[in-house]
Amino acid sequence: MSRIVVTGGAGRLGRSLVAGLRDAGHDLISLDRGVSSAPELDGVEQLALDLTDADATTTALTNAQADALIHLAAVAVPFSAPEDIIMRTNSQLAVSVLGGGVAAGIPKIVAASSPTVLGYGAPAGWIPERLPLDESSPTRPWNAYALSKLVIEQTLHMLIRQTGNATRFAAFRPCYVIAPEEWAGAVTQQGHTVHERLDDPALSAPALFNYVDARDVACFTDTLLQGLDDIPNGEVFFVAADDALAREPLAELIPRFFPETEALARELTGTSPAFSNAKARSLLGWRPKYSWRGELSTRTDAAQ
Ligand SMILES: NC(=O)c1ccc[n+]([C@@H]2O[C@H](COP(=O)([O-])OP(=O)(O)OC[C@H]3O[C@@H](n4cnc5c(N)ncnc54)[C@H](O)[C@@H]3O)[C@@H](O)[C@H]2O)c1
Repeated sequence: MSRIVVTGGAGRLGRSLVAGLRDAGHDLISLDRGVSSAPELDGVEQLALDLTDADATTTALTNAQADALIHLAAVAVPFSAPEDIIMRTNSQLAVSVLGGGVAAGIPKIVAASSPTVLGYGAPAGWIPERLPLDESSPTRPWNAYALSKLVIEQTLHMLIRQTGNATRFAAFRPCYVIAPEEWAGAVTQQGHTVHERLDDPALSAPALFNYVDARDVACFTDTLLQGLDDIPNGEVFFVAADDALAREPLAELIPRFFPETEALARELTGTSPAFSNAKARSLLGWRPKYSWRGELSTRTDAAQ
């Protein structure tokens, strides 16, 4: 059992992640702007603070006496605030939380980045160099959210240059996160239900039909923290489902939305996703357990 601090534990992903880690036997503390009454946080220690306040954050992290820190707190949706606010908030959080974790002597620190660092959806056009995408695919952020996520990844490397291997770091890029209540019909992060995203491929096309179950992300972070001493410091991982959030093969869907990608997408037959999770599998031994077909088929309104 570890004592784990989660920033943004009251958020959409944070709630599932805190619940999953608590159920795996860990002792959790959530630091967020507010205290949440969500059932997922039952029995979890919560502290309300503004994490952009570096001194207050370092004090809270020091008092937590934690074995590990998972940094989720962020403006989490592109264009949900003015670009300068997103850039400032997320970059400031990277330095105050990750730097605060180092100052507090927390030995393992991981942070949520995002697949958007790759730059898909750019209005001026974007074509992948190859498919499936993986961690060696080039980063080309085109908005402040994606750029701020790259800042988070780079902040880890800045801190490694300061501390050597005394602190172990990693970043993870969760694909479009779907929480248990969203399989049951609640709207997802972009304001559509899972069924609407499946029925209208244009909704998921900009992010190449990526997704991951929030419980799989919780399991991923547990596996990552356990393996962090045994992998190179500062690795980045996509956290993706084994399949695509689509009813048709991506070999057909991707060229429909991204012109001139027929040859690139040719291998994405059957249910193959556009984002590879092979690195997490080979370095950490993690595999997702959940898929949209399994989740929707277990519900009464499903399988349409
Ligand atoms: N949900 C997704 O599909 C997805 C995909 C990729 C990456 N991510 C990343 O995962 C993380 C969590 O995303 P989410 O969907 O749960 O977002 P969310 O908006 O639901 O949760 C973010 C939490 O951070 C907290 N927060 C923000 N600023 C804060 C501050 N200054 N002080 C204290 N708390 C603060 C908010 O109160 C909120 O509870 C984010 O870093 C996001 O960028 C999410």
